[in-house]
Amino acid sequence: MSTSDLPVGSLGLTPAGALPASASVDRSPAPVSPQASTAGVAPVQTPSFAGWDLVTLAQAMMDVARDPNAQVFPAAKAGVTPTVSPSSISEPAIVATTPGVSPSAGLSKSDVPAQVPSVPSTPAAAPSPGAIDAIASQEPSVDFFRIPLLGESVPVATSYFLVQTGAPNPDAPSDISLVETKEVTPVSPAVNKPLRQAGFDPYAVRREFPILNERVHGRRLVWLDNAATTQKPQTVIDRLSYFYAHENSNIHRAAHTLAARATDAYEKARATVARFLGASSAQDIVFVRGATEAINLVAQAWGGQFVSAGDEIVITHLEHHANIVPWQQLCAKTGARLLIAPVNDRGEVILEAYGKLLCPRTKMVALTHVSNALGTITPAQQMVAMAHAVGACTLVDGAQAVAHFPVNVRALDSDFYVFSGHKIYAPTGIGALYGKPEVLNSMPPWQGGGNMIKDVTFERTTYHPAPARFEAGTGNIADAVGLGAALDWLDNLGHERAAAYEHELLNYATAELCKVPGLTIIGTSPCKAGVISFVLAGHKTEELGSALDREGIAVRSGHHCAQPILRRFGLEATVRASLAPYNVCEDIDTLVAALKRLSAHG
Ligand SMILES: Cc1ncc(COP(=O)(O)O)c(C=O)c1O
Repeated sequence: MSTSDLPVGSLGLTPAGALPASASVDRSPAPVSPQASTAGVAPVQTPSFAGWDLVTLAQAMMDVARDPNAQVFPAAKAGVTPTVSPSSISEPAIVATTPGVSPSAGLSKSDVPAQVPSVPSTPAAAPSPGAIDAIASQEPSVDFFRIPLLGESVPVATSYFLVQTGAPNPDAPSDISLVETKEVTPVSPAVNKPLRQAGFDPYAVRREFPILNERVHGRRLVWLDNAATTQKPQTVIDRLSYFYAHENSNIHRAAHTLAARATDAYEKARATVARFLGASSAQDIVFVRGATEAINLVAQAWGGQFVSAGDEIVITHLEHHANIVPWQQLCAKTGARLLIAPVNDRGEVILEAYGKLLCPRTKMVALTHVSNALGTITPAQQMVAMAHAVGACTLVDGAQAVAHFPVNVRALDSDFYVFSGHKIYAPTGIGALYGKPEVLNSMPPWQGGGNMIKDVTFERTTYHPAPARFEAGTGNIADAVGLGAALDWLDNLGHERAAAYEHELLNYATAELCKVPGLTIIGTSPCKAGVISFVLAGHKTEELGSALDREGIAVRSGHHCAQPILRRFGLEATVRASLAPYNVCEDIDTLVAALKRLSAHG
């Protein structure tokens, strides 16, 4: 049985606000679930898993663990003794894991090495928590998220989680830091090379990106700096050139044909962004330069209107500077306080501590959907619901999320969602701010000028409603059109399939990098997007970046504009390899081989 055989809806890559990998993406407006804004109550049930072999169970649990509504806490604390009987996967279960490396979700029986004896047909008895602890204490150094192979005795593990799916359970401990996090040396999990999946061919994707044919220092370019910016497919390049060859004009303000063409193309792109995010209307989308400008817009326009002395703004320790500095500036101006939700040693937001920061003084919670420095996918949907429960407004920074998995802003229920085009195969200098219409229209403009006004006299000016009121002056018309083309391209490629492939590649890369002597991965949440940050003992990160460049490999080394989170781990810089669906195993192999050489030569 492979994960694909498991009950539909129980599995899938399902970060908060993201659609399950298995789900068909309906970008049309989704009805807002009542559970999206209020925490529901789901009683903890007794787990039962007869008929599941250990591989299947482990795979299923790892997928369940990515459920945005999953509550994860130690079995011992829950006081649950597992039993074995037929069950639906939506029930809670004891799953053996070791914190660290992302689970190998795509493993199936055919991936199991030949030398491993096949599993007996009788179901494996689940170990009791006591037995589990005894095994764990004997075997402190085990694979991260190692899936027990068929026929293997009950696996060693350092952590046993109770996973409760469904609506958040307010009675359950929500502090994921409660989960035991023994320091262990990661050993390569049993991950095979991601194969070309049916219908998804990363080599064909590569052929659409002309820059990937470049040679750097005489070597094949290995582009692993996708978190900084992604490369552009030919279709986006062509769309830009078509715009300038056939449509170029200023928009909205002329009766001539080219103005109509350019306006149509620009507004079509806005509708595409709305569809891509699952927004209810194109009017909910404001074009901006990128995520940074979007956050500044909200901090200035919304913050200027609604934040005053004594109010509190909550962000997380994971944030990019773009989601720190504008709030600091707002606090300095208004006398509000900035509070930081901490993370645990895996780089995951500690939900219990976050919850304790929230109170009626909280006016805004601004959090990243994916950490650009560590790759952690935050439980954004749950965090948004918790913020709404105290009446706070929310902003989710999707700069690193949208390229990696489908996002539905209506399911996420955040008041604002922001992203940059250049991180999702579109040009630089264009991005989008999504806002709930009632929130956008409650805000004053942040800049004044042409395009955003209804009427101007020397005495007074009246403004258009959103989005025009936030788009003063001539915008980046051609690149907005390019953004629409990029999102269409990703839709045609199949965002979910691309995400699933990228996830397998992340598992492969994680496993291979763990084989490099002296290499430590920073950010070991099991719920990660395609970002791997690491340090190599005895090597400065800038030197590593330059050495890798000489081999044609582009990675980022430095603080990634996220100094607070790196300092949380006692570091000023890491090397970061970040993935896209045009990356292939050979890219990872080239990186790993180079790092092994560097490691061997000190
Ligand atoms: C998580 C995150 N937020 C915000 C930004 C800022 O994006 P931009 O520079 O495109 O405005 C980045 C850029 O790396 C990011 O990774």
